[in-house]
Amino acid sequence: MPEFYTREHFARAAEYISTRTRHRPQVAIVLGSGLGGLVSEVEEADTILYSDIPDFPQCTVEGHMGRLVIGRLAGACVAVMQGRAHYYEGYSMQQVTFPIRVFQQMGVGTLIVTNAAGGLNPEFRAGDLMLIADHINLVGMAGLNPLRGPNDPELGPRFPDMSRAYDPELRAIARRVAAREGIPLREGVYIMLAGPSFETPADMRFLRIIGADAVGMSTVPEVTVARHGGTRVLGISGIANTLSPDLAAVGHDNTTHEEVLAAGKVLAPRLAALIRGVLRELSGT
Ligand code: HPA
Repeated sequence: MPEFYTREHFARAAEYISTRTRHRPQVAIVLGSGLGGLVSEVEEADTILYSDIPDFPQCTVEGHMGRLVIGRLAGACVAVMQGRAHYYEGYSMQQVTFPIRVFQQMGVGTLIVTNAAGGLNPEFRAGDLMLIADHINLVGMAGLNPLRGPNDPELGPRFPDMSRAYDPELRAIARRVAAREGIPLREGVYIMLAGPSFETPADMRFLRIIGADAVGMSTVPEVTVARHGGTRVLGISGIANTLSPDLAAVGHDNTTHEEVLAAGKVLAPRLAALIRGVLRELSGT
């Protein structure tokens, strides 16, 4: 595996995918921990295992199936990732973001990215959906930015703008759909930590003080690469558990992966309804 992938790697993977489906997706959707159920609603589906796609990272975590499902959903042509690769699994930031580059090569213009996250905002409850208004690239600030390395100007600028990473128009559509369909929707700032260990009470206090509403172990690298290549992004977090430093300090609030997956089951139907509504607006159907 090269330290830095090039356009040729992305093009080869995109070319392989195009031999396995007649669809030409316009929207890519990344489904996070325990949130993969939406793929069952994709019509005329062509399913491709990540392990078949050249250089595609594999999923090693429970709740991530490792399948790319391409077809039609709510009037739109979509490519749905049922599970993603994370930095904590041992992948480089280049590998974690490889699928996003492949989607860009395929002509996908919009990315809908989802994740399971811990709620830091004291108003949040497990089972809430949070529209991502912005993110804090803490891991990137520490040096792990997926754009580190040679820049191919054909893919995007050396110093990409991140002032509107989460597309204001897509966020407005999501709010409108949520209001119309009676789906409660929070809005806030997502922060990524490398993981895989969960947060200490001092971590939680720090993350809240610096402005985060929800914390997880994904999404930020993918969104950084999406924006570098000019892809529009809508981000939605499923609040799987709440994090309160005070409770955690006395041992009442320890997060487990099982808890995250169980919350996914509750969240998934509302998340699916929200995504379907957004797709319907985007496709004008
Ligand atoms: N912390 C970090 N990542 C997470 C959490 C959490 O509490 N819940 C789901 N993903």
